[in-house]
Amino acid sequence: MLQLTKLKAKSILAFSITGMLYLSCSSGDNLPSTVTFTEHVAPVLYNNCTICHRPGGSAHFALVTYADAKKYSSANAYVTRERIMPPWPADPHYTEFVGQRILQEHDIALLEKWAKSGALAGPADKMPQLPQYPVGSETGTPDLRIPVQPYLLEANSLDKFLLVKIPFELPADTFASMIEFVPGRKNVVHHVNGDMVKYAYTQKTDVYAGERIVDMAADTATLLQAYKRLGLPNDDGTFPVLQKSVVNYLPGVFGQRYPEGLGGYRLPRKGAFLLNDLHYGFTNKDSILDSSYINVFFSPVPPNRPVKEFQLGTLGIAPVEPNLVLEPNTVRTVYSRYTIPTDISILTVNPHMHLLGKSFKAYALKPDGDTIRLVSIPRWDFNWQYFYTFKKMVKVPAGSTIVAEGLYDNTRENLNNPFSPPRRVSDNTGSMKATDEMFQFIVTYLPYQSGDENISLERK
Ligand code: HEC
Repeated sequence: MLQLTKLKAKSILAFSITGMLYLSCSSGDNLPSTVTFTEHVAPVLYNNCTICHRPGGSAHFALVTYADAKKYSSANAYVTRERIMPPWPADPHYTEFVGQRILQEHDIALLEKWAKSGALAGPADKMPQLPQYPVGSETGTPDLRIPVQPYLLEANSLDKFLLVKIPFELPADTFASMIEFVPGRKNVVHHVNGDMVKYAYTQKTDVYAGERIVDMAADTATLLQAYKRLGLPNDDGTFPVLQKSVVNYLPGVFGQRYPEGLGGYRLPRKGAFLLNDLHYGFTNKDSILDSSYINVFFSPVPPNRPVKEFQLGTLGIAPVEPNLVLEPNTVRTVYSRYTIPTDISILTVNPHMHLLGKSFKAYALKPDGDTIRLVSIPRWDFNWQYFYTFKKMVKVPAGSTIVAEGLYDNTRENLNNPFSPPRRVSDNTGSMKATDEMFQFIVTYLPYQSGDENISLERK
């Protein structure tokens, strides 16, 4: 596939350089003879890019006005042709997911032709309206908003990976259909993976006691020490129940609300959200104060089919094989395999690696020998680690083996290698530092019920 894309790229380049029409070119057919911003380019950008590339969006620059677009015309042609933008690392030819961001060949060819033909403005009356983007929540009006303790990113600071506690106390146990993380300063909040801590009411006196934020890398704390500093344990020192992956965030991703009766959460009277990873990007000359928050949408009904989760690989229910120890100047593939005991319906999958990851693939081998494709990421990108939601639930029958395979490159060829010269890197039994490695595959699922494979998970 990559080969094909490259070939097409070449042929388009050749055509546009010689100034020929695209009529005979298969990938660029029906391109207008004159491509302009208002008529052709703005619609592509507004449908695919401005959700992040607008003032206040998650990218550092906007692609809203003619001047914006013209300035980046060649860059836009390049990143779309190479399928770097819009960011969607999963291969759509392997499996398709809800909300996938894939640009059509025709749109890529438009951006390319526009860049190469002088980036013309076009008639003003053809200019489309910028879509209305939601403010404060991506999905509606929340019932409860819980602030994350504001965090000051000093000027010129490097990436930060914080462990953050967001405690809450409610008048009664309740239910929620969705929990949403809303970044304060979108251009520095890269991603969030968060769990929910659930206290038995009598076991915890003060949910607000303890620190709110631990910078794991700076403090070299073990996870257990960090949990204690955050005041997470019960009064008697034991640990409360932790529900995994309750709140996740990546730029451009909406909170996932499942069809009636599926998913949802039980919120205890006393609890906390625990962000395992609040990843802030680097800052330039200005310091930045981020005030993010969490929105909770209550539900009158209990979750009758709560979503469950298991995790293969580092810290998971099935080990990484061979061990995730990456010697300098080596490239190696690791696996994790888990045979499921009962029929399940998979909702989402989340591949996870750090900076040495190169590619990732996961599938299920059925007892009858067939393969069920789950996800393939041909070009791993640390910055874009989605929870990929299937368009319809995927039934995986009992006795199937779920296989995750990851390729790691610990050579100088890997431009993301944090060490030069390369060093020995391992998963350090679950350290979350970006410079240690990880190999994980998280699956959210329900026990299978007949008809599950027909239930759509698409957003309404
Ligand atoms: C989900 C959010 C998102 C979407 C959608 C998106 N971008 Fe980006 N884009 C980013 C982020 C984040 C960066 C990293 C640089 C930054 O922070 O500004 C980036 C970087 C870029 C760059 C600079 C690349 C570099 O190497 O410096 C270009 C050019 C670009 N995007 C164009 C586009 C175009 C064209 C589209 C639509 C076809 C698009 N982007 C869609 C978030 C997005």
